[in-house]
Amino acid sequence: MPEEERVAKLNYGIIGCGMMGQEHLRNIALLPDAAVVAIFEPDAGMRALSAEAVPSAKLVDSIEEVLAVDEVNCLLIASPNYLHLEQLEKIAAIRPLPVLVEKPLFTDPADAPRLAALRAAYPAPIWVAMEYRYMPPVARMIAEAAEATGGIRMLTIREHRFPFLEKVGDWNRFNRNTGGTLVEKCCHFFDLMRHILKSDPVRVMASGGQSVNHLDEVYGGQKSDIWDNAYVIVDFASGARAMLELCMFAEGARYQEEISAVGPKGKIECLVPGPGRFWPEHLGEPPVSQVIVSPRDPKGPHMVEIPVDPQLLEAGDHNGSTFYQHQRFQKAALGEQPVEVALDDGWWAVAMGLAAQRSAETGEVVNLPTEW
Ligand SMILES: NC(=O)c1ccc[n+]([C@@H]2O[C@H](COP(=O)([O-])OP(=O)(O)OC[C@H]3O[C@@H](n4cnc5c(N)ncnc54)[C@H](O)[C@@H]3O)[C@@H](O)[C@H]2O)c1
Repeated sequence: MPEEERVAKLNYGIIGCGMMGQEHLRNIALLPDAAVVAIFEPDAGMRALSAEAVPSAKLVDSIEEVLAVDEVNCLLIASPNYLHLEQLEKIAAIRPLPVLVEKPLFTDPADAPRLAALRAAYPAPIWVAMEYRYMPPVARMIAEAAEATGGIRMLTIREHRFPFLEKVGDWNRFNRNTGGTLVEKCCHFFDLMRHILKSDPVRVMASGGQSVNHLDEVYGGQKSDIWDNAYVIVDFASGARAMLELCMFAEGARYQEEISAVGPKGKIECLVPGPGRFWPEHLGEPPVSQVIVSPRDPKGPHMVEIPVDPQLLEAGDHNGSTFYQHQRFQKAALGEQPVEVALDDGWWAVAMGLAAQRSAETGEVVNLPTEW
């Protein structure tokens, strides 16, 4: 961006401000040179909570009204999954500002051409929110992985966590709104796989379904169809393999994410606890993240704890990552660094999730396209 057009401060317009939108509000409040100036949130309860969090923000009734607020110079989309793409298209048509859009970028495989059109024409940065990359223990593991493993050949991501929380209007109880659990929840992990392995996937095999959670839940006469467990195996172009194990009825576990990478030299692991607010008080302090390096020769696992700033833990459920992601998004919005999680990355993460859903449904291996 030329010097004369640079803005000293980012003024966010927020589109959708429920649970995650409010985590963003709390994190933006911790950033220097950033403010939230306009919020579009249709639900009365969430609007009231948003107003309480940022009393100075203007509450408006549409995307058009957010874009009409002159001071707004960047946007955050944190609405339900199935709205992200159409909202990006609307913004593109009216006032294409830098946008941080929550994952998943889209939910329907037929939407790929619309995304390609957006990629070709959007004149400002679009950053897809993939918080897991920015969790301090995950970032540390990624930084050390090449040296610790001698080149990753196997990568395993296990998430054992609590069931899906309740959302406004129960939108997350149906695959048609979320893209399916392997898109909604697991696009994060597919993004991590590509990011860590620095390679694109070629094929996916999966088994998954709804085994324990939401089985008796009915909304508007329709039974919830959202899956709660899966195994997914992914082959990468580089020859590396990755596996995801998801279980959403395992909130009793000490750690929520357990990521391991192994290569000819050794193994590196990272253990990440779930949100501290869910850790029972009578058990004392919540667990602290760990990174463990285990060389093959000489043997001797070495563990370091990676504590996260308590203020950042307090501001959200994602181990401080929402804050670190905004720091980098801000720089990208100001033209000071490239976008790190671009539309391409957002597309791949969803394409992998959709392929995994299809593989589990059909019992067949699903090949991924080489481009879109
Ligand atoms: N990156 C992460 O780790 C992470 C974590 C949680 C949620 N998310 C994503 O954030 C998004 C929001 O999820 P949530 O958990 O906050 O759900 P939520 O239901 O709490 O919030 C969504 C909000 O969007 C509002 N909304 C509905 N229709 C809208 C419209 N047309 N325009 C604008 N807003 C509208 C709803 O009223 C609601 O308040 C989802 O895409 C979800 O996948 C990401």
